[in-house]
Amino acid sequence: MSDKTARIVTLPGDGIGPEVCGEAANVLRLVLEQAGRGLELIEKPLGGCALDAGDEAFPAATKEAVLAADAVLLGAVGLPKYDGATGNRRPEKGLLDLRQAMGVFANLRPVRAIDALNDASPLKNHVVKGTDMIVVRELLGGVYFGEPRGIDGDRGFNTMVYTKREVVRVAKVAFEIARGRGKRLLSVDKANVLEVSQLWRQTVTELQQNEYPDIALDHQYVDSAAMDLIRQPTKFDVVVTSNLFGDILTDAGAVLAGSIGLLSSASLGEGPGLYEPIHGSAPDIAGQGIANPLGAIGSVASLLRNSLQMPEEATRVETIIDQALADGHRTADLGGKVTTKEMGDIICQALKA
Ligand code: IPM
Ligand code: MG
Repeated sequence: MSDKTARIVTLPGDGIGPEVCGEAANVLRLVLEQAGRGLELIEKPLGGCALDAGDEAFPAATKEAVLAADAVLLGAVGLPKYDGATGNRRPEKGLLDLRQAMGVFANLRPVRAIDALNDASPLKNHVVKGTDMIVVRELLGGVYFGEPRGIDGDRGFNTMVYTKREVVRVAKVAFEIARGRGKRLLSVDKANVLEVSQLWRQTVTELQQNEYPDIALDHQYVDSAAMDLIRQPTKFDVVVTSNLFGDILTDAGAVLAGSIGLLSSASLGEGPGLYEPIHGSAPDIAGQGIANPLGAIGSVASLLRNSLQMPEEATRVETIIDQALADGHRTADLGGKVTTKEMGDIICQALKA
C-alpha cells in the first residue's frame, strides 16, 4: 500500500446525493485514518446544484479538480425542476460531461443477492438466491453520445454508433474480469436488428478468438437477456453491453438485490476512477434523512480497491455492509426505520470494533 496522501474529490450533487455521500465520506475518512494514510477530501458542485448557482452543470472548477484527483466519489444528479430543460440546462448533462472528461469508458455494476435480503425482492426467493453477476456497461459511446442528434421541427433523432476501438477497450475489461471469475462472458446486443450491434458482436468475437480463447463467450439479444435477468438471474456471471442497454438492464438488476439503494458502481478508464451508487437523486425522499447510504458506501469499497490499492480494506467494508444487513438493519427502502445517518454510524462502529 502506498503512503501517499489520497486526494479524493466528492461530488455530492442533488437530491439524496449529499446525504448518502456524507455517510460514504465518513466511512472513507475512517478507513484511511485506521490505515494511517493521509486523506484530502475536496468537495465540488455537479448537476442541478451547479445550475442553481448560476454555473454550468459540470463547472470548469469541478473539471479541474476531478482531473487532478486520485478518485472521485459521486452522490447523484437530477432535480425535478429541470425536467423540462433541454441540452446543457439538464443536470444529467453534467454527469455525462464528467464521465466524458474523465474518460471512464467501463462502468462496472455488480449485482449480488444477499441471502438476508431475499425477502426484499419482489421475485421469489428461489429465483434470486445466489445471484452474483457483474455488468460491464460501456459508458462513453453509443446512442448517449452519437452524432448527429437533435430536434428538428417535428423530428427528434439520435445516433447509435460504436467504433471497433470503443468495443475492444470495454470488452477487454470484461474479459479480464471474466478471467478472474467464472471464465465466461455474455455479450448483450441487438444484432438481429441493429448494424451497430452486428459490428459489436463481430468485434467481441474476434477479440475472444485472438486474445481470450480461455474465456467462453456467449451472445444474447437484449430483449431476451432482460427476460432471463428476471426469470433466471443466477445464470449470469459477467456481462458486457453498450451504454443504453447497460443502463436499462442494471436498473432491472437492482430489483434482484432487494433495493436499488444497495448497488454501487465503478467507472474506470485511463485516469482516476469515478465511484457512485447507481440509484438516482430520488427527489421524492430527499432531505428526509432516510435514503439508504449502502450503495454509496459500497462505492467507497470499490474506490479503495480500484483506485487506492487497498483491497483488504475494501473487502472489510463489504463484509461489514453484508453483516449490517444480516443483523437486520434496514433503511426505509427495505421496509425499515434506520435513517441514513444511523446506517452510516452502524458501518463506522463496526469498522472501529
Ligand atoms: C445511470 C443514470 C444516468 C445514465 C443518468 C442520470 C444520465 O441513469 O447512471 O444509470 O443514464 O447513465
Ligand atoms: Mg440508469
